[in-house]
Amino acid sequence: MRYRGVIFDLDGVLCSTDRYHYLAWKQLADRLSIPFDETVNNRLRGVSRMASLEIILEKSPVAYSAQEKEALAAEKNETYRKLLGGMSRSDLAGGALETLRTLRGRSVLLAVGSSSRNAPFILEKIGLDGFFDAVVDGNAITRSKPDPQVFVLAAQRLSLPPAACLVVEDAHAGVEAAVNGGFDCAAMGDAKDDPRARYRLERLEDLTAI
Ligand code: BG6
Ligand code: MG
Repeated sequence: MRYRGVIFDLDGVLCSTDRYHYLAWKQLADRLSIPFDETVNNRLRGVSRMASLEIILEKSPVAYSAQEKEALAAEKNETYRKLLGGMSRSDLAGGALETLRTLRGRSVLLAVGSSSRNAPFILEKIGLDGFFDAVVDGNAITRSKPDPQVFVLAAQRLSLPPAACLVVEDAHAGVEAAVNGGFDCAAMGDAKDDPRARYRLERLEDLTAI
């Protein structure tokens, strides 16, 4: 591999928590009588919890105070955490473990760069806590993707410059964040056809051919 480090997004790349995000936001939106569908949901990929709420509230007939918004975000997170509670190692994306092991076998450093504050919990659930050389999540950053902060911090923790790292993303906001930070990006899933990505992955295993 031509990169010395690979920084993985978590939701939608290493596991399919994006479905749980959708279900939890949908439950809240239905209760508030706000229209919410997959098109709106796609705009939430890679975006922080509060920024996601703001996107959902664009279609709200009612205006909410900052305090009410905190409560709404907490309500969504409670629903989401209940869904996460049922996750196990079997929710790790197909081919993920083999790909991670292959890359490590080639002395590539491995990191997670996620906007999620629930990332440590999810990594524990899918059996990857303690596996990565660095984990940077929503608790460590002040600016959400498309700001590159999460990836810049992950590269720093790997002691590598951005040019030596590849970012793996499923969100347009994440591809943009990678490019903004000076990283090459391999895109998959929802972002697969993003022209800003250097590589397109049909599946995670394709990484081992880069
Ligand atoms: C990202 C997801 O990984 O984390 C977003 O793609 C989500 O959809 C964001 O909004 C924040 O997640 P959390 O777990 O902190 O609410
Ligand atoms: Mg993602």
